[in-house]
Amino acid sequence: MAFDIEHIRRDFPILQRTVNNRPLVYFDSGATAQKPLTVIERGDELMRMYNANIHRGVHHLSGKMTEMYEEARECVRRFIGAREREEVILTSGATASINLVAYAWSERFLHEGDNIVVSEMEHHSNIVPWQMAAERKGAELRVLPFDDSGALRMECLDSLIDDRTRLVAVTEASNTLGTCPDLDPIIAKAHAVGAVVMVDGCQGIVHGGGMVAERGYDFYAMSGHKLYGPTGIGVLYGRRELLEAMPPFMGGGDMVDKVTFAKTTYAPLPLKYEAGTSNFIGAVCLAEAMAYVERVGVEAIERHEQYLLGVMTERLGAIEGLRIYGTTEHKCPIVSFTVEGTHPYDVGMILDKLGIAIRTGHHCAEPVMTHYGITGMCRASIGVYNTLEEVDILARGVERAVRMLK
Ligand code: ALA
Repeated sequence: MAFDIEHIRRDFPILQRTVNNRPLVYFDSGATAQKPLTVIERGDELMRMYNANIHRGVHHLSGKMTEMYEEARECVRRFIGAREREEVILTSGATASINLVAYAWSERFLHEGDNIVVSEMEHHSNIVPWQMAAERKGAELRVLPFDDSGALRMECLDSLIDDRTRLVAVTEASNTLGTCPDLDPIIAKAHAVGAVVMVDGCQGIVHGGGMVAERGYDFYAMSGHKLYGPTGIGVLYGRRELLEAMPPFMGGGDMVDKVTFAKTTYAPLPLKYEAGTSNFIGAVCLAEAMAYVERVGVEAIERHEQYLLGVMTERLGAIEGLRIYGTTEHKCPIVSFTVEGTHPYDVGMILDKLGIAIRTGHHCAEPVMTHYGITGMCRASIGVYNTLEEVDILARGVERAVRMLK
């Protein structure tokens, strides 16, 4: 399918609406992306015509829904590039995925005196669960720093990763700086000492990430809602042998083999980690969202977004007093900035009056703010549906905000 932006925009009903009497200009896809009609209609159809719990009934609807859920898992497997369906756990989101690993993996593999390395640019959800695990187990948390351009300081790897390192947690694409670190040397170094690597793919999967088996990831987490799917559905990929060796995370229905008061045995993968009623409607809608992305074309989307990123960086960068954070060459389409003499919230509020949505604040990455000695930033993040004209509207909006605030 040729990349036709007008056609694509018609796929997203919300883009027809106005905000504060202006056409909506949505530059907050990094927080959550808008949903195409195919995803919305699929959810509607499932709730109207197919709703029934999965893996739990012999009746028609239960069988049908179970089939669709397992097809969705297969679709996710292909999309993220896992080898086996047993390695794909459907969760409520990336945060749940990381917490699952941080709890279950560390129960089995983390001991007193070990260490975990996290990068300085991680989202809180790839820091705090590791901090909690380290505290629980008496392990040390080490930090791989970044330089002012937003590049990870790879020269620190040798001193940080040693024979007591058990896990390295790193992002595929920073939600704040846009940096897409070169993960190969990190993975190689971790594997050389027998450590595993947890990759946060929340932003990465939307911009050409994944290929988890080929790239040698041990664990991978992503959310559905940033990939044009619904909220409340996410994915955990784990290498089979790790998932087999870890204990279950949550106990409940569907994750068991046999339950007696004396002893319970657990279901095989992947259900071992899917306690309770899964978000089966969300899973099927996520598969629909992945199908949408594949129809438009991952590379075509990437080209479009990278083009807009270039123009946005140039336009915003030309505004006096505006500083862009994250200036590495290989970035996902995110521009975070502050303007001297203004507060990010004030800039965000003025843009909102113009119908423009951006994110403001610490972006759930306070250590990044601390690195630069600030408390917050503005962030414009680009999605498949954004246009050159919208980049211009944003830039003029920021100029106007700056004139009003200074
Ligand atoms: N993690 C999301 C963001 O970066 C919410 O905005």
